Amino acid sequence: MEEFDKVGVVGLGTMGAGIAEVFARAGFQVWGVEVDGGAMERGRDHVRRSLSKAVDKGKLGSEERSGILDRIAFTTDREDLRDADFVVEAVPERMGFKRDVFTDLDRICPPGTILATNTSSLSVTEIAALTGRPDKVVGLHFFNPAPVMKLTEVVSTISSSQATVDIATEVAKRIGKTPVTVTDRAGFAANALLVPFINDAISAYERKIASREEIDTAVTKDADLPMGPLTLADLVGVDVCLAVMDVLWEEFRTPRYAAAPLLRRMVAAGRLGRKTGRGFYDHSGAPDPAEE
Ligand code: 3HC
Repeated sequence: MEEFDKVGVVGLGTMGAGIAEVFARAGFQVWGVEVDGGAMERGRDHVRRSLSKAVDKGKLGSEERSGILDRIAFTTDREDLRDADFVVEAVPERMGFKRDVFTDLDRICPPGTILATNTSSLSVTEIAALTGRPDKVVGLHFFNPAPVMKLTEVVSTISSSQATVDIATEVAKRIGKTPVTVTDRAGFAANALLVPFINDAISAYERKIASREEIDTAVTKDADLPMGPLTLADLVGVDVCLAVMDVLWEEFRTPRYAAAPLLRRMVAAGRLGRKTGRGFYDHSGAPDPAEE
C-alpha cells in the first residue's frame, strides 16, 4: 500500500465524528470538515465526549486523548483537503448533498486521492459517476457506533479499480476494523439482512404482537444480541432504516422489502430515534408518553 497519513472526513455527525476519531486513534492526521462553525463544534464535542468517556473508564490516558484530539484539524473549508490522500464522506443521505461534496472533492483533491463514501442507502456507483475518477471511488461503510463496531464494508462498483478496493481494505485494517468486500447493491451485505429484520420487528410491534420491550427482550435473550431491533432502530436512526428499506424495495420489489407502515409514519412524525430525542423509545429524559 502507498504510504499516506492525511485523511479527510467530510461531515461530522454521529457517524463522521466517530470515523474521524477512529482514524485519529490509529495515528492518521485527520481533517474533519463541516459546513459551518456550529456543526463543526458539535462534531468536535462529539469526539471530545467519546474520548473523555474512554479516559474516565481508564481505557485511555489523558495525554493520549490530547494526542488524538491534536491529530484532528476541524475546519469548515473543504479546500483544506487539497493534499489529503484518502477522504471519507459521511454527510446526510441525500444525493444532492453527495453531489455537492463529491464534485467539490474531485476538483480539490489530487487525482490520486481515493474518495470513499459511508453511504448506507445510496448507490456508490452513482456517487462515483459524479466524479472524473470513478475508479478511485469506493464505499467504506461503518457501523454505529463507529468507534466500537469492528465490521466495515468495502463496497466495490463496476467502475472501481481493484487497486482502490485493495487500498480501502488495507486502510480499514490499519484503523483496526474487520473489512468485508461487498458489491454495490441495495443494502450491500449487512443492511440487506439487518434492516428487514428491524422492519419485521416494527411490523410485529405495529400489529401489537407484543410490547416494544417484549420484542426487544425476546430477541436479545433468544439470539444473544447486544440490543433489540427497536432499540437498534433508535440507535441507527429510524429514517436511515426507512431509507434502506426503500432502496431494497426499489431494487428488488419483493414484499419482504416493503417498509412497515409504522416505520414510514415514525419518520413522518419526526421520531427518528436518539438523534431527535424520540423514536420507538423516549431519549429526551422527559416522561415517555408510551409509559403514561
Ligand atoms: N462511541 C464510542 N464508544 C461507545 C459508544 C459510542 N457511541 N457507545 C458505546 N461505546 C463503548 C463504551 O464506551 C464501551 O467501551 P468499553 O468496553 O471500552 O468500556 C463499549 O462501547 C460498550 O458500551 P456500554 O458498556 O456503554 O454498553 P453496551 O455494552 O450496551 O454496548 C453497544 C453498547 C456497543 C452500542 C452495544 O449495545 C452494541 O453493540 N449494539 C449493537 C450495535 C449495532 O448492531 N450496530 C450496527 C447498526 S447497523 C449500522 O450502523 C449500519 C447503518 O448503515 C444502518
